[in-house]
Amino acid sequence: MLSVAGKVYRVSGPVVEAEEVANLRMLDMVEVGEEHLVGEVVHLKADRAYIQVYEDTTSLKAGDLVYTEGDPLYVELGPGLLGNFYDGIQRPLEAIKEKEGFFIRRGVHIPALDRSRKWHYKPLKDVNASVRGGEVIAQVPETALITHRIMLAPGLEGRITWMAAEGDYTLDQKIAVVENGDKKYDVFMYQRWPVRKSRPTQDRFPVNEPLITGQRVIDTLFPVGKGGCVAVPGGFGTGKTVIQHQLAKWSDAQIVVYIGCGERGNEMTDILLNFPKLIDPRTKRPLMERTIFIANTSNMPVAAREASIYTGITLAEYYRDMGYHVALMADSTSRWAEALRELSGRLEEMPLEEGFPAYLSSRLAEFYERAGNFKTLNGEPGSITVVASVSPPGGDFSEPVTSHTKRFIRCFWALERDLANARHYPSISWIDSYSEYLDDIKTWWHTHIDKHWLADRYRIMELLQKEQRLLQVIKLVGPDVLPQRQRLVIEICSVFKNTFLQQSAFDEIDTFSSARKQYLMLKNILIFYDKADELIKKGINISEIKSTTAYQDIIRMRLRYSESNLDELEKLSFSINESLGGLEL
Ligand SMILES: Nc1ncnc2c1ncn2[C@@H]1O[C@H](COP(=O)(O)OP(=O)(O)OP(=O)(O)O)[C@@H](O)[C@H]1O
Ligand SMILES: [Mg+2]
Repeated sequence: MLSVAGKVYRVSGPVVEAEEVANLRMLDMVEVGEEHLVGEVVHLKADRAYIQVYEDTTSLKAGDLVYTEGDPLYVELGPGLLGNFYDGIQRPLEAIKEKEGFFIRRGVHIPALDRSRKWHYKPLKDVNASVRGGEVIAQVPETALITHRIMLAPGLEGRITWMAAEGDYTLDQKIAVVENGDKKYDVFMYQRWPVRKSRPTQDRFPVNEPLITGQRVIDTLFPVGKGGCVAVPGGFGTGKTVIQHQLAKWSDAQIVVYIGCGERGNEMTDILLNFPKLIDPRTKRPLMERTIFIANTSNMPVAAREASIYTGITLAEYYRDMGYHVALMADSTSRWAEALRELSGRLEEMPLEEGFPAYLSSRLAEFYERAGNFKTLNGEPGSITVVASVSPPGGDFSEPVTSHTKRFIRCFWALERDLANARHYPSISWIDSYSEYLDDIKTWWHTHIDKHWLADRYRIMELLQKEQRLLQVIKLVGPDVLPQRQRLVIEICSVFKNTFLQQSAFDEIDTFSSARKQYLMLKNILIFYDKADELIKKGINISEIKSTTAYQDIIRMRLRYSESNLDELEKLSFSINESLGGLEL
């Protein structure tokens, strides 16, 4: 029930100061003015409330009424989330477009989940069963890929006294009744949850499995685990968005939540137009069937951008609670932090570094803490991996958002301007990037791919570091003085960079490499290197080595072998040895 809770005293951009306030609490959701613009209480002082409003406030005037239902800002969680495009406060953009046209009229209220659609519901519990919050009581095939598990809302507990029979129901139809003493709850296929509060779990586990992204520099050199957190910092145009899109398309998460936060509108349009056509390479089903988009582009209200990452992570937690591995992309958290800065400025709070509020760091911590590998309330594993891009002004990684973010992540893909300028994509620096998940995920690689994975990954990293030092030497004294064996190191690193680290997002074969393809490519390069090094020690010249078919073969590996002929790629090691061996005769 909506009741009057105060009236507008002053409007400053997205922030409204209300007076004569009664019965408002921090973080309560309110509606302001004749158009009922949605907002949230962010500060209370005496009889004044400061409200951040998620829509354009130009129509508001002093004396307009403020209403509330007394609930915090929440999202709706239930079947129909997948494949949807939402704004930062979960307004369904497609449904609004159908009803209202391309521009969102201020104050439109359309439920996030379609109330007219029927879902095929199947109960999984019997009447009289005792159930607790988080327990799965029924299921709905949400898409061909994903079974939506209907869970009792966290915090509830009791005995099922009535359960609807299997059949087709809308979200407004009751599906069960749970009783506890003299309390009685009606259960529906959807529930609400306040976005700023994390959903509870039973336990948290260490990361133990990689998120395979199909991007070689990531999976082989700087892998992230399922349940891990990565930051992708990079200056203007260095390829942050392409990386996020690649992960949304190819990573082996079961559910993807993609937050376009403050980025250009045309990038989201691009997603809107292209994503629905994409097919998941593993399941051969449309990728939309596992994806939810949240778009708050730079031309949309700034307060809703601040809320968008909480909305996104709450949706991610909900699917994690069903026992799924979820990946959340946020592009870009710098634009989110700028929204925070603008709102803080309007509230006349004391700014700290570069105008950001003192609570920037704790807000980032709260967000990243919601990622992880968990035991759900239903007793199963489920994870949320967060991949957040950061856009430091001028590409300076010491600025506040990048430096605070670094405290909460364990994997860092530093995008390098020089690489992007040289069109070496993804422009992830092999010198400045790191992953602290290697030990957590090595067992997966060793059991599923090859027991030498970690050792080989360290070998190539060592060669890259050696090359770095040799390049310094060359700068000082020129290339001619380097002995042949050291020139081979430079040569092999150049091959590795060109054929392995570079990966075109736009080539049909190159866009995705399975873990097996990645390892076979790496192994062949190392086999080539070892054999060539042996030959050089026997006095054979590098130019002779480069004239072999083996050299041509490793250079062409990445485009010549698609996922369907990896057995051929495996056999390449024999012909490399044979071709190079020919030089000894
Ligand atoms: N993996 C890739 N393969 C091929 N081209 C790429 C790749 N990554 C980036 N590019 C090229 O770089 C351009 C810029 O990339 P992108 O838009 O991702 O940069 P950004 O860091 O998100 O930029 P902004 O700071 O403006 O948000 C792309 O349009 C594309 O041409
Ligand atoms: Mg971008």
